[in-house]
Amino acid sequence: MPTTIVVGAQWGDEGKGKVVDLLAERSDMVARFQGGNNAGHTIVTGGETYKLHLVPSGILYPGTTCLIGSGTVVDPAALVAELDSLEERGVALDTLRLSGNAHLIMPYHIALDGASEMKLGRFSIGTTRRGIGPAYQDKAARVGIRAQDLLDAKILLAKLQIALEEKNQLLEVLYGLPRMDAEQIASELQPHAERLAPFIADTSLLVDRALREGKRVLMEGAQGTLLDIDHGTYPFVTSSNPIAGAACAGIGIGPTRIDQVIGVSKAYTTRVGEGPFPTEIDSAAGEHMLTQGNEFGTTTGRQRRCGWLDLVALRYAARLSGFTELALTKLDVLSGLPTVQLCTAYRTPEGDRLTEMPYHQTVFHHCTPEYRELPGWDDDLTGCRTLGDLPAAARNYVEAIADAVEVPITLIGTGQGRHEVIDRVEI
Ligand code: GDP
Ligand code: IMO
Ligand code: MG
Repeated sequence: MPTTIVVGAQWGDEGKGKVVDLLAERSDMVARFQGGNNAGHTIVTGGETYKLHLVPSGILYPGTTCLIGSGTVVDPAALVAELDSLEERGVALDTLRLSGNAHLIMPYHIALDGASEMKLGRFSIGTTRRGIGPAYQDKAARVGIRAQDLLDAKILLAKLQIALEEKNQLLEVLYGLPRMDAEQIASELQPHAERLAPFIADTSLLVDRALREGKRVLMEGAQGTLLDIDHGTYPFVTSSNPIAGAACAGIGIGPTRIDQVIGVSKAYTTRVGEGPFPTEIDSAAGEHMLTQGNEFGTTTGRQRRCGWLDLVALRYAARLSGFTELALTKLDVLSGLPTVQLCTAYRTPEGDRLTEMPYHQTVFHHCTPEYRELPGWDDDLTGCRTLGDLPAAARNYVEAIADAVEVPITLIGTGQGRHEVIDRVEI
């Protein structure tokens, strides 16, 4: 696995953190390429739970270099808090580096994210309110502030003053919020700047050097395919590209350096926030997924919406990112259901049967799922470590998914813990 990209195949929270942590054991470098602290990646090991938001999920292995790439957006205060909490728990941070080109989330981005959601009312996106969208907006508008600006207090203040000329209009006039002061923001940033300065580096160069030395590099995506700003369920998406193609831009390496792409999908589906979700269910099975899967957001604590696995959407994700492998997590959660359903197609209100993701948003919003029903299983899967340990019905379910997506399933999650997994298989 010289260069491997790991991405979410659904609406986020697929278990990317667990998969990356597992693969990090056999990697030299782990790099995050997009998103910010809207992400919440959970790793459970040795009775400890780690919730990572910006720091790559390889940090628990001493010696594994961890990079936060230029495609990310970084809230300095949130990153410092995350670093402090990891350090308090004895996690070494000496191998962490932050791209000087990563854009910073400023207090006005957070205020504008919240204010815009309030103004949208019933049309709101249900963002994490971490300032992600407004920070990416400023990056595209070329008025953003970057990690490297933390290294020069004069430049930082000048850029804040320019940005605030417009932001204060928005805050005050459009949203009726208090104005913000550049000098105050700059002085509050100063301790964070000092703390983060030693980590700021040319992360693209570090990845290039590692690859030239034959090292194994893992690229960690945040969010998921259907939250992609170009290809997801727009406008109910995040403001970056969580698909594999974005890893090259977000790190700064060429596509010719990529060897493998692993898509991560739950054995069912969840979504947090607003937006269409054809296989969402409001039944005992949904309640089972919610409680057995403990489906509450890692970042915001919100209850996740639950539903059956959507093979139309999963095939779409495999196409968009070119999955070479699929990791299927949380199979254990489905134990105890009398039957399990796989969405194999959509029906439009006119009765058309669609086996590809509809191109038009309105069609997607109105389509209903067509299911294939398979037998369930009662056995507890948490002890399963080989394919032979799986009950026949569970194995049958996994095979049906691999056949439909036409991508080999090489990892199956059978519990929350780091080693609760059937790994290095091919179905
Ligand atoms: P991420 O954002 O993709 O990293 O996923 P999250 O960490 O937000 O959510 C996934 C949740 O499922 C976390 O609580 C994980 O610890 C948990 N999880 C991951 N894989 C498995 C699995 O195979 N079985 C069970 N029961 N839990 C899992
Ligand atoms: P990980 O990396 C699940 C969702 C939000 C909202 C939409 C836009 O843990 O899988 P944003 O704050 O990004 O502007 O919100 O995207 N969202 C996520 N949902 N997992 C995530 O990250 C998410 N990051 C953002 O709930 O619907
Ligand atoms: Mg998450």
